[in-house]
Amino acid sequence: MTDRRKDRIYAENLDKVDDFVFDRRVAEVFPDMIKRSVPGYSTVIAMTGVLAGEYVQNNSRIYDLGCSLGASSFAVLEGIKARECELLAIDNSEEMLKQAQSNLALQTTETRVKLICEDVINTQINNASLVILNFTLQFIDLEQRLELLKKIHTGLRPGGILILSEKIAFADPVAQALQIEMHHAFKRANGYNDLEISQKRSALEKVLIPETLEQHYRRLKQAGFARADLWFQCFNFVSLVARK
Ligand SMILES: C[S@@+](CC[C@H](N)C(=O)[O-])C[C@H]1O[C@@H](n2cnc3c(N)ncnc32)[C@H](O)[C@@H]1O
Repeated sequence: MTDRRKDRIYAENLDKVDDFVFDRRVAEVFPDMIKRSVPGYSTVIAMTGVLAGEYVQNNSRIYDLGCSLGASSFAVLEGIKARECELLAIDNSEEMLKQAQSNLALQTTETRVKLICEDVINTQINNASLVILNFTLQFIDLEQRLELLKKIHTGLRPGGILILSEKIAFADPVAQALQIEMHHAFKRANGYNDLEISQKRSALEKVLIPETLEQHYRRLKQAGFARADLWFQCFNFVSLVARK
C-alpha cells in the first residue's frame, strides 16, 4: 500500500510541468515534502519556538505569514507557554489552511490562534512582537517584497523581531552551482530521484524567486530594520533575525 502522505507529486514523467501551486495535493503531503526538500527545516522550526520564548512580549501579537499547516505557529506556542498574546496564522491557500485547521483542532485547548485566509500583502500588522516569514517571502512578487517588509517593520513594537527564512541565490556562479549541487545531493539522500528533482525545479522556476543574502540585508535596512543577523545556514537555505 502506498503512503498517501509521502510526496510523489513529481515521480511520474509529466508531458508538461505546470507552475507549482499550494493545492490539495501539496497540502496532503506537505510535511513530508518540506522536510525532505529544505535542509535544516526542523531546526528552523524548532528555533522559531526558542526565539519566540525569548522575544514575544505579553499582550502583543505574533504573525506567522505563509503559515502553511502551522508548523512555526505550533513551535511558537511551545516556546511562549502561557504568555498572553494573539497568534495570527495567515496563508492564502485554502487547502493549506484547511489542514492547519484540523491540526489546530487536535489542540482543543488553544484559543490564542486565529487562522486567516488572505494574501499577506493585505494583512494589517500592528502591536507585533514577533513576525515570522519562514520560506514565504520567496513566493512574493519581487516588486512587493520591500512594501511588505516596511509594513512589518512599522507594525513591530520596540524590541520586536522578524524571523526571515529563505532559499537564497549566490552572485558568484561557481558558488551558485556548488550550492545547488549540494542541495540536490540532500534531496537524493532523502529519496527523491533525478526526475522528481528536475520536474519540481521546473515547477518552481517562475514561482519561487530566491535572492542573495546581500539583497536581503539591503532590503531589510531599506525597510527600516536596525540590524539583521544570520543565525542559520545549510547550503542555499538561511534564516535571519531582523530587529526593529
Ligand atoms: C514554503 S510554504 C511556508 C512554510 C511554513 N511557513 C512552514 O514553516 O511550515 C509557503 C506558504 O506561503 C503561502 N503563500 C505564498 N504566497 C502567499 C501570499 N501572497 N499570501 C499568503 N500566503 C502565501 C503558501 O500558500 C504556502 O503555504
